[in-house]
Amino acid sequence: MAIPDGVKGAPDWLPPAAGRFDAVETAFLTTARLAGYERVRTPVFEHTEVFLRSVGESTDIVQKEMYTFRDKGDRSLTLRPEGTAGIVRAALQAGVPRTGGLPVKWSYAGEFFRHERPQAGRQRQFNQVGVEALGSDDPVLDAEVVLAGWEALRRAGLRAVTLLVNNLGDREDRADYLDRLNRYLDGVEALPPEADERRRLNPLRAFDAKAPGMAAIMAGAPLLPDHVSPAAKEHVETVLRLLDAEGVPYTVAPRLVRGLDYYTRTTFEFQAGGLGAQNAVGGGGRYDGLAEDLGWPERFPGVGWALGVDRTLLALRDAGEPSAARVAAFVVATDAELTGRAFALASALRRAGVATDLAFGGRSLKAQLKAADRSGATWALLLGPSEAERGVVTVKELRTGDQREVPAAGVVAELAGA
Ligand code: HAM
Repeated sequence: MAIPDGVKGAPDWLPPAAGRFDAVETAFLTTARLAGYERVRTPVFEHTEVFLRSVGESTDIVQKEMYTFRDKGDRSLTLRPEGTAGIVRAALQAGVPRTGGLPVKWSYAGEFFRHERPQAGRQRQFNQVGVEALGSDDPVLDAEVVLAGWEALRRAGLRAVTLLVNNLGDREDRADYLDRLNRYLDGVEALPPEADERRRLNPLRAFDAKAPGMAAIMAGAPLLPDHVSPAAKEHVETVLRLLDAEGVPYTVAPRLVRGLDYYTRTTFEFQAGGLGAQNAVGGGGRYDGLAEDLGWPERFPGVGWALGVDRTLLALRDAGEPSAARVAAFVVATDAELTGRAFALASALRRAGVATDLAFGGRSLKAQLKAADRSGATWALLLGPSEAERGVVTVKELRTGDQREVPAAGVVAELAGA
């Protein structure tokens, strides 16, 4: 019988790649924690309407990429294609807007699902780390969020990142601009049918229509940032001034609309080279109308980003990072009689906080030393009959080959303190 394959587009993460995955996720979450963002966890599925109302009916995500199914109670549920909608839903459900102490600053990490055509950097199950700051209009918060994303990618080891920033203004100010854009698109002679269909749902979507010739068509289109309100203009200018002061380089990108409909004012994307078409490693922005889209009676603004763990790893792969050592110590018993002692020594080291391994299956001394080398350990601890008799352990520095004897009673304390 053939072994069933894993689901297409849903990767398995095995060592050593899974270790690098954890390191990237930790770097992102650490950066968020240092800026005062607290961890939250929301479910991987939501009522479908959460995404219909927030991500937006005109987006590729809602149009064709959601994993939607009916449960046994005939409710329509969807595996989360992104995190922001569920986080805002959870905040509203918990009554956060009325609790005071705003903004709340939250971070999250986990699996997300989009039924896309799998290719490098585009999966059906992927991982994001995100931050969402809810309940404040302050542009300083936008600057904090953008800067945290920039720092998070650096902390993960990614240097060559391009930051694009746009101003999508406030929704209530958009009607006039959308009329203009529609008039422009009406005047285009051969608008590709796919682009025409998208813009009927949301004219802004014409900016991310991929049909051939669209880039040239949109090059002449009126630009949203030229038509935003003075307040929205001042808001994003403040954000950019703060980024300037921090020395964060960015490119103003007046055609950046991103793949989700909820954005207002500050909108941004982090791109990395070497990823081809999938060059966005992360993105985000303000979403001041999202809570109301979900049915909340008052304004409850927010700003955040999500960084893709998978794509960051792809971008780092070119940098050829060495994989981290699996353990610090490796216990080698030169005699089968000493297996019990080796096991006890490994257990004591682990208890003292020293990551330790040993060989299994009664392997030869040579095979055990090879396993020690392969583990990446700093030290091999050799236990032979002569050592056992004298109550010592031979500590071999695997990088240099130097070795010395240490009293068995003190070896755990010594390595734990090293
Ligand atoms: P997004 O741009 O749709 O934004 O996704 C953020 C990141 O997730 C992307 O830049 C990419 O690295 C990764 N990603 C998305 N789809 C895939 C895929 N199919 N395969 C691999 N990686 C993928 C959001 O999701 C918003 N919720 C971000 C946000 C938070 N905006 C405000 N707050």
